[in-house]
Amino acid sequence: MNITVVGRGRVGGGLARLWTGAGHKVTGLGRDGGDATGADVVVVAVPGHTIADALGRVSGLSGQITVDATNVYQERDSSFPSLSHQVKSIVGGPTAKSFSTVFAATYAQIPAQTTRPGNLFASDPAARSTTEQLVRDAGFDPVFVGDLDPGARLLEDSSGLTRALAAQMGPFFYRYGRPGAF
Ligand SMILES: NC(=O)c1ccc[n+]([C@@H]2O[C@H](COP(=O)([O-])OP(=O)(O)OC[C@H]3O[C@@H](n4cnc5c(N)ncnc54)[C@H](OP(=O)(O)O)[C@@H]3O)[C@@H](O)[C@H]2O)c1
Repeated sequence: MNITVVGRGRVGGGLARLWTGAGHKVTGLGRDGGDATGADVVVVAVPGHTIADALGRVSGLSGQITVDATNVYQERDSSFPSLSHQVKSIVGGPTAKSFSTVFAATYAQIPAQTTRPGNLFASDPAARSTTEQLVRDAGFDPVFVGDLDPGARLLEDSSGLTRALAAQMGPFFYRYGRPGAF
C-alpha cells in the first residue's frame, strides 16, 4: 500500500518503520505538512489538539481511507464526538481509530513476543479490512470494538485506564481473546 503518515514522531515514525519493513511504501510528513496525493491510506499521528493545524498543511486529502492514532491530552474540541470524527471531517474518507491504546515504546519489542500483542480498533465498515491489515503488518493482533461511532470515543476515553496501568508496569502489551484462546 501507499501510506502517508501525518506525524513522524514516536508513533508516526515507528509505524513507518514497521510498515516499510512489511513492504509498504510510506511517506512521513511532519508539522510542515506536504502532499498526500496518491496515498491509499492516510494515517494521523499528531498531538490531538493539533489535528486541524497538521491536516490543514497537507494537500491532496480527498476521501482516502484514514487511520487515526491520536489521543486526547488537552481539552477536546467538543464540536466532534471524537478526534477521529474531526479527522474524518477533514479527510472525508472511511475512518478507523487504531494504535491509540498501544505504546510506541514497545514497537521494537514486538518481534521478540511469543504471541502477537493485541491492538484495539474501531472502524467505519469501509475502512475495517485495510485497518486490520495494517495492524497485522505492524505485528499486532487486531481486536475490533465496533463502528467508529461510538468506538472511537470509547477508545479515547480509555486513555485514563491505559495511563493508570502504565504507571504500575510501564509501557505494556495486552491481549483479548475468547475462552480457549490462551
Ligand atoms: N507515544 C505513544 O506511545 C502514543 C501511543 C498511542 C497514541 N499516541 C498519540 O499519537 C499521537 C502522536 O504521538 P507521538 O508520541 O508520536 O508524538 P511526537 O513524538 O511528539 O510526534 C508528533 C508529530 O506530530 C507532528 N506535528 C504536526 N503538526 C504539529 C503541531 N502543530 N504541533 C506539534 N506537532 C505536530 C510533529 O511534527 P515534527 O516531526 O515536524 O515535529 C511530529 O512528527 C498523539 O496524539 C498521541 O497522543 C501516542
